Amino acid sequence: MHTILTGVRVNEEPTIGNFLGAYTPMINLSREHAEDSHTNFFVPDLHSFTTPIDHSKLYDQTIKGIKYYMAAGLDTNSPNVHIYRQSRVPAHSELCWILDCFTPYGEACRMTQFKEKGAEHPDAVTVGLFNYPVLMAADILLYDADYVPLGEDQFQHLELARNIAIRMNNKFDEKLFTLPAPEKEQVKFMHLENGIRIRSLTEPTKKMSKSAENEKSKILLCDEPKQAAKKIMSATTDSEGVIRFDMINQPGISNLLTIEALLTNRDIQDVIADWAGQTSYGDLKRKVADSVMYFLSDFQERLNQISDADVEAVLQKGEAYANEVANKKLRQVQKAVGLYK
Ligand code: TYM
Repeated sequence: MHTILTGVRVNEEPTIGNFLGAYTPMINLSREHAEDSHTNFFVPDLHSFTTPIDHSKLYDQTIKGIKYYMAAGLDTNSPNVHIYRQSRVPAHSELCWILDCFTPYGEACRMTQFKEKGAEHPDAVTVGLFNYPVLMAADILLYDADYVPLGEDQFQHLELARNIAIRMNNKFDEKLFTLPAPEKEQVKFMHLENGIRIRSLTEPTKKMSKSAENEKSKILLCDEPKQAAKKIMSATTDSEGVIRFDMINQPGISNLLTIEALLTNRDIQDVIADWAGQTSYGDLKRKVADSVMYFLSDFQERLNQISDADVEAVLQKGEAYANEVANKKLRQVQKAVGLYK
């Protein structure tokens, strides 16, 4: 059995960038590999406060995050689907410390996201923010995950996890950790040409980010569908006057074509061909706005049908499984480093 694993932080409301970059590939893969793979979809709640948050909301947001996973279409009745909270599996934090001691400081310093987030929060650069990618490595390596569906922005962290695993396997035992597949193989496994990067609607050279202050730059999964459609209608485009897929010169238009393809589950090349040469940006925006409205209405309807009791049942099963698997791996590592015989 393979393991396909991913997590989405829920300290802020997830965006359609999170949905299209991580949820959709995860759910498609989980269906495609229902018989031959475990699907681990967890909420990295310990990762939620690497930058300052309102802690009185964290617990409820985590439960809501689990509801989002369920509403997105994971088959929670499958014996191979496991949903859990990172904080309920203490092995994650324990393994993180051990991995820390095999992570060169210089390598951790190179993480782009640390530099970017550090610049966004200059007064609150904590050791937790710095250590975030190592905890992420523990999340992955504890379960011998082969495939980790991620948006393009997280591939550098996956590479770090691979490097730590290679280093420890070389030192202790070749079979200590399963190496998650490298970026190219991951992308191929997700049936994509490149990693997914949904752009900001107002500044399309940047990624759509749930922490962005400008509400118009992002579509949240909880947005009222008509409001979300308005955001698409006011998305920044360009003055070229013709619809083309060109991320360099027409990032806004290319972003809309990407969103349309992913939301309607169509091949991006087919969507590009449909619109090639057309000149009305308004028509394209209306089509994408309709797709967004349809998607959000459908998603939110499913979300409203999930109760706290449903979440409780799913977590009970998922957290028992996760602790069993993670504790076994942790003990193997503790033995390798000499803490146990
Ligand atoms: P997070 O919560 O920032 O984002 C969750 C997932 O959404 C993807 N994503 C995007 N994809 C496409 N376009 C965008 N604009 C966009 N914005 C976000 C991210 O790439 C990610 O896949 N460190 C992770 C959470 C995590 C994790 C893990 C993931 C913790 N441990 C172990 C996998 C395995 C994070 O903060 O993602």
